[in-house]
Amino acid sequence: MKNQIKYGKLRYVSFIILDLLCLLLSNLSATFLYYGQYTFDKIFADFIPVFILTFAIDVFVSLTLNTLGNVLRRSKKKELKECVTHVSASFVLLAWLLFAIRYGIDYNSGIIYFTYLFDLMLLISGHLLWKYLLKSFCRKKGSVFLMTTNRFAEEGIEEIRKKGDEVSGVCLLENDNKKQIGDIPVFSDIKEALAFICWQNVDRVCIYGIDHQMVPDRLRSGCNALGVGIESVDFDYKILELKTIVNSDPKYGALSFLEGERDIPFPIRRVYWITETEADLHRGFHAHKLNCQLLFCPYGKIDIILDDGSGEKQTVTLDGPGKGLLLMPGLWREMVWCESGSVLCVLASEYYDEKEYIRNYDDFITYRKENQ
Ligand code: TYD
Repeated sequence: MKNQIKYGKLRYVSFIILDLLCLLLSNLSATFLYYGQYTFDKIFADFIPVFILTFAIDVFVSLTLNTLGNVLRRSKKKELKECVTHVSASFVLLAWLLFAIRYGIDYNSGIIYFTYLFDLMLLISGHLLWKYLLKSFCRKKGSVFLMTTNRFAEEGIEEIRKKGDEVSGVCLLENDNKKQIGDIPVFSDIKEALAFICWQNVDRVCIYGIDHQMVPDRLRSGCNALGVGIESVDFDYKILELKTIVNSDPKYGALSFLEGERDIPFPIRRVYWITETEADLHRGFHAHKLNCQLLFCPYGKIDIILDDGSGEKQTVTLDGPGKGLLLMPGLWREMVWCESGSVLCVLASEYYDEKEYIRNYDDFITYRKENQ
């Protein structure tokens, strides 16, 4: 509710007005059916009091059962369920009140059934239509909600801006209490992020620098209900600085570390390392379809030659414990041991599965073309 008010009270109010219109129309139709025609006296005598009563009940039910809450984020099935709950509760309450004040003697019960059935029909179709219109015409084209990590947040915003889009909000995995980046609001709670996406009419959600597995299920299903697509703004690789603590006394050496979601934007399913190597060893010669990896060389020097299939190769040298290489799927790699005994450590997002490897270079070129 806090965010509904903060990020677009009008959207919520529009549904209250819609509810009121549905009620008005169903009440008018019921009165017309009952009397056959409208006369000023009858309207004042019967229609207006009952209408005020039904409207008061409607607002009461909306607030107590929160049947209007999150209306834009509901799926069709949930929409139907909430509308039935809302109308049934209102109907029971009105029937009971009319009985209590003995107004029902004049006001035919068939008419009340008709009013609420008609109201239910109007409510469901009205809500679906209004939601469709809001989604189609009020969506802010080019307004992107970014999902990333602390480390890549600013870079991700830059990348999206370069594409000519505007970042309206950011959700960070493992947020360390950041509330804003520049004037862009930052969220760490998925529920709040979804409320923002919904009420700000964000066009789409972009993930940057994180594996698709890191997108929380809740955000995925919420975006699905809202009809907001999730896409990734990808890079092929990144050189990461790994935190390293070097003691002033050299005999203590250096301590480097990596922390789960804070430093590694994928779930770690596998760790492997290559040791006892000789200089000029060449390994690799493959690409992965799914596997995200973080490579580092805590001892020695290793060249990683990367190929994105465009004809240009890039070489990244891993030559110390404080340097990591994040590799997204779809890159051909060759590793060259520059010094004997160099150690290569790899953190991987997938279990070992030969099927997700591409070991033939021609197949890799075809794969890149198909997955551009
Ligand atoms: P391979 O991927 O060919 O190593 P590289 O590309 O560095 O030359 O792997 C060598 C062998 O090790 C191969 O038979 C598969 C096996 N292997 C596993 O069983 N599990 C693993 O996690 C890895 C990386 C390899």
